[in-house]
Amino acid sequence: MKKILIVGSTGQIGSELSVKLRSLYGNDNVVCGYYTPPFPEGFFEQGSTEKIDATNIEEIAQTVKKYHIDTIYNLAAILSVVAEKNPDLAWNVGVGSLRNCLDVAREYRCAVCTPSSIGVFGPATPKDLTPQDTIQRPKTIYGITKVVGELISDYYFDHWQVDTRSVRLPGIISNVTLPGGGTTDYAVEIFYKAVAGEKFSCPIKAGTFMDMMYMPDALDAMINLMEADPGRLIHRNAFNVTSMSLEPEMLYAAIRQRIPEFRMEYAVSELKQSIAESWPNVLDDSCARNEWDWNPKFDLEKMTDDMIRVLRQKKSKVNE
Ligand code: SER
Repeated sequence: MKKILIVGSTGQIGSELSVKLRSLYGNDNVVCGYYTPPFPEGFFEQGSTEKIDATNIEEIAQTVKKYHIDTIYNLAAILSVVAEKNPDLAWNVGVGSLRNCLDVAREYRCAVCTPSSIGVFGPATPKDLTPQDTIQRPKTIYGITKVVGELISDYYFDHWQVDTRSVRLPGIISNVTLPGGGTTDYAVEIFYKAVAGEKFSCPIKAGTFMDMMYMPDALDAMINLMEADPGRLIHRNAFNVTSMSLEPEMLYAAIRQRIPEFRMEYAVSELKQSIAESWPNVLDDSCARNEWDWNPKFDLEKMTDDMIRVLRQKKSKVNE
């Protein structure tokens, strides 16, 4: 059985990855490293937790040693929009935490998964069916940290056999913890507004396509890749993965089919729009499909049904 440490377990992805990993590997085999609230329900009761500042290598090393960790999921990151406003922080968290995890992994022989992103691509990248191996010249500091992350992770594998593997996550749509300051956040916020009965101001222009994915598929992507037969992996850091390519009108229409009174208007953010335009429309994820059987379960219709169902349940609980 694996012994897993999650660094950044209270963020958008961590708050759900921790629950899924604890259910798969057992509460005793997953240590949740946290830095900031909010803390999901049962977070401290259901298994081991440790306060870890990802930029402090000692805190990571001590936890890995204490629990005999063999696999690290490193989720510490500053998303694209916030990163543009604080590039030093983005670099220190994005690159610093990864270097720390890699160095600890090298010493204690751990596998490492640090999600990469569609942000690794830039305006010079082919926009449609973006290949696995292509031009990576991002214009955002977030994207730059993710390209560095992919390269340095491959380097640790090539030179020191650290078992590094990763996926280029698209915008993640989820209903537990809100994302914090990304370009794709609109695709989450639109659902909260729709279920609250409020109008949504969309910061991204109609017709701007970006890859998106529902959280259950994103969790499966990371976990299945970490479980994959290494003999089949031609690539490592990082695989293109996607499950839907969306523009705002598509989400609006899907929600209005279910909530006809919902209204959206546009209040385009210059920064978010320029980042969105520098990213691909749709990735080619055939390498992930061929090398480790990537196969997402949620399309726009299934995801929209589930998002509205869960957010309605949450709303009625709050109103009880
Ligand atoms: N969701 C991220 C962002 O928008 C992209 O990986 O910054």
